[in-house]
Amino acid sequence: MITTTIQNDLFIRAAFSQQTERPPVWMMRQAGRFMKEYWDIKNKYSFLEMCKTPEIAADVTLLPVDLLGIDAAILFSDILVTAEAMGGELSFTQGVGPRFANPIRNEKDIDALSIAVEEKLRYVADAIRVVQQRLNGAIPLIGFAGAPFTVLSYLVEGGSSKDFKLTKLFLNNHPALAHKLLDKIATVTITYLNMQIAAGVNALQLFDSWALALSWDDYQEFAHQYNVKIIAELKRTGIPIISFCKGSSVFAPLMAEARPDVISVDWNADLRRIKQTLPKGIAVQGNLDPFVLYADQAVIKKKIIQLLERMRDEEGFIFNLGHGIMPDIPFDNVKFAVDVIKEFRY
Ligand code: CP3
Repeated sequence: MITTTIQNDLFIRAAFSQQTERPPVWMMRQAGRFMKEYWDIKNKYSFLEMCKTPEIAADVTLLPVDLLGIDAAILFSDILVTAEAMGGELSFTQGVGPRFANPIRNEKDIDALSIAVEEKLRYVADAIRVVQQRLNGAIPLIGFAGAPFTVLSYLVEGGSSKDFKLTKLFLNNHPALAHKLLDKIATVTITYLNMQIAAGVNALQLFDSWALALSWDDYQEFAHQYNVKIIAELKRTGIPIISFCKGSSVFAPLMAEARPDVISVDWNADLRRIKQTLPKGIAVQGNLDPFVLYADQAVIKKKIIQLLERMRDEEGFIFNLGHGIMPDIPFDNVKFAVDVIKEFRY
């Protein structure tokens, strides 16, 4: 492992609620399809080949570093690699998204899943080491994993879902089985994130992307308690943990109980109000509606400045989108947005 002091540590300081000269900026799905340079690589390999080949994963991780000048890199990978390592037969098809050929239907399916994933996920640790060598301390690298509920939803649905019908049926009719599965995923996630820390990531984000599908009570029972356990078991000295869910403006008070360093907030919320309701020492990340990035640049600038001004006196603010960049957002608009934020001064 190489440990260097980080030259641009705006992101780390903001994540630990320290003062910064301006807000740091990175964007979810920054390593992706809105860049022509991504397609130059993607046209030669499948998505999983890209994830599993450390040199290629590193190349893609660094695209937004070189082309956008963001303040933090996020490892090119996917939240579903843990489920694949456990035995899920995962494929990604253009226009369809992720698919598991062997969805979870009963206890036998759950018992068949392995929790011995470290060897199978070694390629992620290798990719982290390649990225860190190439970054050479310029900016921090964020690692990540899917949270148990969100990963369960893909395993049970066999892919993406609009209404999470099968997932909710499973939780409602078979809560004991759901807990058995969530517990296994949580165990794997702890192993996996600690492996990423050992390989040298500078921060971690836990994606509970679809937790908003759950009621308040079900969120606590099937999502929150596992996230609490994961965050508690990370060997996180000096490494900030970001907790993300779409719906964080609803669940923020609960998410704060898990003691992440940062809560990533969707665009429904007044970010300043959310920040002020959180315990001191928890920073916020967010929360521009990514659809703004389709608009005219004058509009993009106005909406970004509005958000930056609103957060002006708040320590602990990382600029991000409320969710990921869509693949057809014009690259120039994303670059423009990053430049607007980087020119801003508190
Ligand atoms: O943020 C980054 O740039 C880092 C890489 C990253 C990817 N996926 C690459 C990816 C990260 C952090 C993720 C996380 C992820 N993956 C989440 C959580 C974030 C969120 O959006 O809520 C989820 C739910 C997934 C599952 C997933 N992966 C879906 C639903 C899809 C298909 C739908 C879609 O957006 O295309 C993927 C595929 C995927 N993951 C792609 C990329 C670049 C597209 C692959 C391709 O080129 O076809």
